[in-house]
Amino acid sequence: MSKLLEISDLRITFESGFGKVDAVRGVNLAMDMGEAIAVVGASGSGKTVLGRSLLGLVDAPGVVRGSIKFGGAEIVGRSEHDLRDIRGLGIGMVFQDALDGLNPVYSIGSQLSETFTVRLGMSHSQGKARAIQIMEQVGIRRASERYNDYPHQFSGGMRQRICIAMAIGLKPKILIADEPTTALDVTVQAGILRLIKSLQSETGMGLIFVTHDLAVARMVSTRIVVMYAGQIVEEGPTEEIFRFPKHPYTKALLAAHPARVRTWRDLEPIPDAFVTDSSSGGDSAGHATPSIVVTN
Ligand SMILES: Nc1ncnc2c1ncn2[C@@H]1O[C@H](COP(=O)(O)OP(=O)(O)OP(=O)(O)O)[C@@H](O)[C@H]1O
Ligand SMILES: [Mg+2]
Repeated sequence: MSKLLEISDLRITFESGFGKVDAVRGVNLAMDMGEAIAVVGASGSGKTVLGRSLLGLVDAPGVVRGSIKFGGAEIVGRSEHDLRDIRGLGIGMVFQDALDGLNPVYSIGSQLSETFTVRLGMSHSQGKARAIQIMEQVGIRRASERYNDYPHQFSGGMRQRICIAMAIGLKPKILIADEPTTALDVTVQAGILRLIKSLQSETGMGLIFVTHDLAVARMVSTRIVVMYAGQIVEEGPTEEIFRFPKHPYTKALLAAHPARVRTWRDLEPIPDAFVTDSSSGGDSAGHATPSIVVTN
């Protein structure tokens, strides 16, 4: 049986008048259903370009070479028309900034229900019911009352939850989350990470979680892939990477990593009083206190 995802000798190059950038330089990676892979690496190491290439979303002047097989079918070189079915339905993606994924002029409910009517062929009333159900599933309280609210009426953490709802509502086989919590404060971050984790174990989808934060990688993944300058320099079970890093770059990453952050508790706020993200919504996310106290 073919793997859920099989990337072979993937090379992505950007060439312009300013010169040539080899963003991805010969990546090989395979994943099965239900696996949770964290892709870690410094800024510019090629994580986002790699993630986007899985959806055929590498913008010109980017050139993709090599092979990406999703369920045995080649993605590299496929037409926009073919990719439309893979995007969202096969492989879903949540971006760093929730505003990228939402249209400010339409209500949250209409954007969610339209996604389901257009992509899943549901009727209007089915789409609406599904939207409310999925809003509740990602922790938006009084979902039916908030159905007609616009993106700006939700906090950053809530908007990110809505983007996650939109992605997982289509039941993708793989969810790519590219730094989905970087723009959020730490208290909100923990809630989103937990949400992604629990949705992943409920649905059995594969997860590719891009982050530069090893603590986050440890929370969400069973396997870690370390990227450096466009290549995978180390790969292995998450705990093994933490205990026995082999590559000098991984060792350097770990040395710079706050040793205190080992469990979910370390990502939680210290007092219990700042439960902002799971509240009934509203714009309260800005008031949380920082929770990670680094004592190296
Ligand atoms: N459209 C583009 N045109 C030219 N170069 C690009 C383009 N997109 C990405 N690159 C280059 O590809 C390389 C990898 O970028 P990428 O965004 O994947 O890094 P990253 O690991 O996601 O970094 P970060 O952690 O900052 O998000 C970088 O050198 C970047 O400048
Ligand atoms: Mg990136």
